[in-house]
Amino acid sequence: MLVKIPLSISSKQQLKTQIKAYLNRIVLGISPKLHARISGFYIKRLITNLKGDKILNDIEYKDLEKLFKNYLYDFKRFLTWAVLDHDLHDKTSLKAYITKEYHRIEKRLAFKEPRVGFRPEIARGLASKTKTYLEKYGADDTIRTSTDCLEAYYGFNLRHGVDDANLRKEIDSIKSGLNLIDTYNLGGTLELTRESVFEKAKINLKDFFESRYSIRDFSPEPVDRDLLKRAVSMAQKTPSVCNRQSSKVYLFDDETLKNLVLQYQNGNKGFGDKAKAVLVVTSDLRHFFSIGERYQGWIDGGMFSMSLVYALHSLGLGTCCLNWSVEKHTDRALKTAAGIDDYESIIMMIAVGHLPEKFKVAKSSRKSLEEVLYIR
Ligand SMILES: Cc1cc2nc3c(=O)[nH]c(=O)nc-3n(C[C@H](O)[C@H](O)[C@H](O)COP(=O)(O)O)c2cc1C
Repeated sequence: MLVKIPLSISSKQQLKTQIKAYLNRIVLGISPKLHARISGFYIKRLITNLKGDKILNDIEYKDLEKLFKNYLYDFKRFLTWAVLDHDLHDKTSLKAYITKEYHRIEKRLAFKEPRVGFRPEIARGLASKTKTYLEKYGADDTIRTSTDCLEAYYGFNLRHGVDDANLRKEIDSIKSGLNLIDTYNLGGTLELTRESVFEKAKINLKDFFESRYSIRDFSPEPVDRDLLKRAVSMAQKTPSVCNRQSSKVYLFDDETLKNLVLQYQNGNKGFGDKAKAVLVVTSDLRHFFSIGERYQGWIDGGMFSMSLVYALHSLGLGTCCLNWSVEKHTDRALKTAAGIDDYESIIMMIAVGHLPEKFKVAKSSRKSLEEVLYIR
């Protein structure tokens, strides 16, 4: 039985000192004023929560400390890699920012009746960032999509009697000398009909969903890389915040590497060795620009993973999602072993292989609809 011991003044003091030390390490390099504010805030919050009658036993104390350290790990990574200061210093962040901004235009153009001349500052800002990108990194699909969107925006306004001459100049200056053709069909809007959408979507999705199980027994048949590539390409149609597409997939189909990666995951014991490939899905923090987006990577990455699992299922492959519910040291260890950068959050692993002729699956029955759907 656990003996409850009050958290003594000295251990509170100890905790305070420790927190200060962690914060010193993680916020190194920021201004002393901001540093003091951040550490003061955290310490106050934490200590306040421990005041009063709250009694912690040794285990709770250790857990609290561990939890705090793990939150700090996430905090530090988000603070380091998300672009909270809008200083778009690398290609990935600038590309994500441009995508976010052209999406703001595209989505408004897709409204039933967009307001003529809407949000000119978005278009101006986008043109300026597109120029910066072009100067730094040259023309690629980011530039093409962005200029398509700017053209679509300009054209929409022009058709409604508003000629934004300055924007025209900006677009022309982006396009000049770069052999950019008029439009690439990458940005702007598409006109669809209900019929055309549902014609393509005519599949029995219920049967499709119900025929997927987590597979924990695979045939010895190797998995064709092209199939895996096709699945990833299909999963790229997954929605993501402002279409920023922060998800990435690392493929391990070499037996030794696959087993190395699986060593860091606790839920594949007893069957992981039978998988022919392991996919590690990650989300790149450099695609996020605000504190409110601190969990967005998990959401976008989780959705991407689901699509990937279904894509693999549609291509005749079996999968088992493998949790990445780990603490910071395991996260770091896998990243080092697998060559995954610190700015990526590992979402999950997916074990992949062909199905044997006969095999068993867990029934994994589901809750009743009433427990899930609440109609208010
Ligand atoms: C994010 C995530 C992590 C999972 N991790 C593991 C795991 O580590 N090991 C395992 O055997 N199954 C794992 N699963 C599979 C679940 O146990 C399984 O999806 C659930 O029981 C429902 O069964 P079904 O997939 O056959 O429908 C995971 C599933 C998800 C979505």
